[in-house]
Amino acid sequence: MQTVQLNQPSENLLDEIKLLVGSNGWKSADEMPRYFDDPRGRFEGFGAIIVLPNSTEQVSLIVKLCNAKKVGLVPYSGGTGVVAGQLSIDSKDVIILSLERMNKVREVSLDDNVVIVEAGCVLENIHSSVEKHNLIFPLNMASKGSCCIGGNLATNAGGIQVLRYGNARDLCIGIEAVLPCGTVLSELNPLHKNNTGYDLKNLLIGSEGTLGIITVATLKLKPIDSESGTALVAIKSPHDIHKIYKSLKTHVSENISAIELMSGFGVSLVTSKFSKLRNPFNIDYEWFLLIEVTGANGIAERLEGALNDCFERDILLDAIIAQSQQQKDDLWNLREMTPEANRISGAFCNSDTSVPVSKISNFIEDAHCAIQKVYPNLRINSYGHIGDGNIHLNVLPPKEISKDDFLKSNPKVREQVRMAINETTHLLGGSISAEHGIGRLKTRDLEMYASKARLKAIKSIKSALDPNNIMNPGVIIP
Ligand code: LAC
Ligand code: ZN
Repeated sequence: MQTVQLNQPSENLLDEIKLLVGSNGWKSADEMPRYFDDPRGRFEGFGAIIVLPNSTEQVSLIVKLCNAKKVGLVPYSGGTGVVAGQLSIDSKDVIILSLERMNKVREVSLDDNVVIVEAGCVLENIHSSVEKHNLIFPLNMASKGSCCIGGNLATNAGGIQVLRYGNARDLCIGIEAVLPCGTVLSELNPLHKNNTGYDLKNLLIGSEGTLGIITVATLKLKPIDSESGTALVAIKSPHDIHKIYKSLKTHVSENISAIELMSGFGVSLVTSKFSKLRNPFNIDYEWFLLIEVTGANGIAERLEGALNDCFERDILLDAIIAQSQQQKDDLWNLREMTPEANRISGAFCNSDTSVPVSKISNFIEDAHCAIQKVYPNLRINSYGHIGDGNIHLNVLPPKEISKDDFLKSNPKVREQVRMAINETTHLLGGSISAEHGIGRLKTRDLEMYASKARLKAIKSIKSALDPNNIMNPGVIIP
């Protein structure tokens, strides 16, 4: 794609936008540092102004103005992204467009089993607004209290229930979006079949705000299951994961909603940083799986059957089945607090790898080996959604060295570790971004590892839809 020179927003343009959105519809960049914070503290964002439109029409008018003046726009959702997709890290001359005032749950349609929501709805609010109808919106992740559906869709977010319900893309049946020229594409009807040319919804979902801004979405709802079972099991090594997975599939098949890997090291980080949380076993096992099944009455018993089978075959060291909602929450808290425990313990490199499920243990073994070759005694917390082959490797400095000191005395180590993980991923036919997207952090990795055909198609689509490159410039394509 040809680089298009973007312009600094003029005072006239800013005045026009302020007039359009009214006094509650914008904030000055200086007074609002939170829009420029990176959840992992690695980047700082910039921008000329924060604009908070309250309707698709306002978004459309703002986009039209910016497109005419060739001024860059950075869509901002919950701000929880970890690949700097929401942060303009090398230009102040962009307009930050936050969807936070578009936060209405518009309609729950029980006949069509859908909910229509505005992009600024916090994920957890969508959960609670449909629960009263005995329905669930199954997209779920640790950041559910602050991430918003617009960003979830823009990044095709995954999370902890992909195994049973799919990614954000699989849970969205219609969108309204503003394209880079300002045109509104409004396709909110809940159609299960619609073969009328290119699938624009699925192109915009996962485009990370580079092809348009999703403003409203129609989401699929699922019935609440009457029973669930949650177990934490200790295993010898990731080699046994596929055997356990196989046994679970035999006993509970499609009712497995999560299989999350946790490492003993990771659990020790969580329990040391959050004093209310504890490892429910008295032994420091090296690896754990957190397993959840949901379904009709009797599903918890079937989970127990699967675990008994694994015990008999000597592939489980220990197991705890939660006996109350509190125990379930306690087990899930160990998992959900893992990213925060990594961060405060000094993780300096985080991966979002996916490999074929059959290659999970090879990946963990090879990646650990490659990382230790970069620098001895690095500490690694490997965990993640291994039911769908998605592993997050978090790398911490050797014991007793702070992250800052370590990176200061080893300025190349972060990049070397990142590349060691990337190379291992590539050799195993994996992906460098399973669920977090490319953002601005991984554009070079994408250039390096995506096929020529994929890159060419990505660039052609971008220049066709956004010839002035105003939509989230620098994301996906550098
Ligand atoms: C998680 C985030 C990092 O799974 O994707 O914890
Ligand atoms: Zn994850």
